[in-house]
Amino acid sequence: MHVVVGITGGIAAYKAPEVVRQLVKMGHEVRCAATEHALRFVARCSLETVSAAPLYCDLFEGNRHSTEHISIKDWADLVVVAPATANCLGKLASGIADDALSTLLLAVDPRRVLLAPAMNSQMWAHPAVQRNVAMLRGWGVGMVGPDEGQLACGTEGRGRMAEPSAIVAEADRMLSALRDGDGLPRLDGQRWLVTAGPTYERIDSVRFIGNYSSGKMGFALAEALANAGAAVELVCGPTSLAMNRHGVTRTDVESAVQMYDAATSLFPRCDGAILSAAVADYRPEHVADHKLKKQGGEGLELKLVQNPDILAELGRMKQGSQRLVGFALETDNEVANAEEKLRRKHLDYIVLNSLRDAGAGFGVDTNKVTILAADGAREESGLMSKHDVARLIVKTVAS
Ligand code: CTP
Repeated sequence: MHVVVGITGGIAAYKAPEVVRQLVKMGHEVRCAATEHALRFVARCSLETVSAAPLYCDLFEGNRHSTEHISIKDWADLVVVAPATANCLGKLASGIADDALSTLLLAVDPRRVLLAPAMNSQMWAHPAVQRNVAMLRGWGVGMVGPDEGQLACGTEGRGRMAEPSAIVAEADRMLSALRDGDGLPRLDGQRWLVTAGPTYERIDSVRFIGNYSSGKMGFALAEALANAGAAVELVCGPTSLAMNRHGVTRTDVESAVQMYDAATSLFPRCDGAILSAAVADYRPEHVADHKLKKQGGEGLELKLVQNPDILAELGRMKQGSQRLVGFALETDNEVANAEEKLRRKHLDYIVLNSLRDAGAGFGVDTNKVTILAADGAREESGLMSKHDVARLIVKTVAS
């Protein structure tokens, strides 16, 4: 596919040729666009050599009609800016176009832009920069990094540009999402509920029973539904993941009971629900309001009571054309147990997670699932990224 690599004036610009080289190696066609300040850190000749194309740097140079930013925009499937300085983020967030690269960026659909910010950690933490980042993310601009580590100014902190390999991996993910985007059903005007992440069940004021769910699968589902045009209600348990996608409204909860309350109140207004959360089946019957002290030498018995089953309850509430999708994590008789769960909970689809395959399940970025439909149809994903699995699920259950 066609990628423009934009380079702005920060020390990390010296790594830009490596980003270009890796993209070219993956088979993409690349053109570079640099600001004048960027060319103080990286040579024009290096960028033109690795991309095998003339550099775009001046709005007027060698261009009879001064509309090259429009022809490059039409050519580009994705614009990756690495590094993106605080100035670059600020200009794009404010709609300022005062050089070749910022003019190009303003002409491109924000969902086709990936920024790799790099700056001093205090600049990164500044409320103006954080406001700009949140605004750009809300428009669908992709972000990778910045990472923590040693900075060129001699200090340590968050601000280092992400490694070229991480930037290229994210660019490739965005390109495959764009390529497949048309394959997603259009869900404009629809509202979908997604549950994600673990639940924490309190034992006392400082302890809980939890599980290893990261929330990545549910967040990828929310993103895929939003990409298809749906308004998404994301109800998630404790997770460190960020969601700033336009069209996704996030409700944070802690326990299964809180997730049950949020999901059952949102579901009647939704066209469908995908329940990917790893909900605790049990919670301690009594929650101590202080930190429990250890009892000399003796064990501790906790009495657990059952949590409400959110999926089963939504199955009871389901009306008309509402679609309901559950997940299943089985260890024995996987398909038969999942099919039994699908019928018992009145689901339209159940997504069977494979625990047998390396690279599938909790915490990792990949997954392998089998999607079983109430009418007996069956779809196997193979091992793929959670983003690709999410797209496959949305294509299957919402079309
Ligand atoms: N689930 C839920 N509420 C619960 C428990 C689970 O909504 N209290 C949902 C999960 O989000 C998932 C599905 O139910 O979509 C399956 O969860 P799983 O733990 O595999 O199955 P259970 O229904 O708990 O059945 P069992 O423990 O009997 O296998």
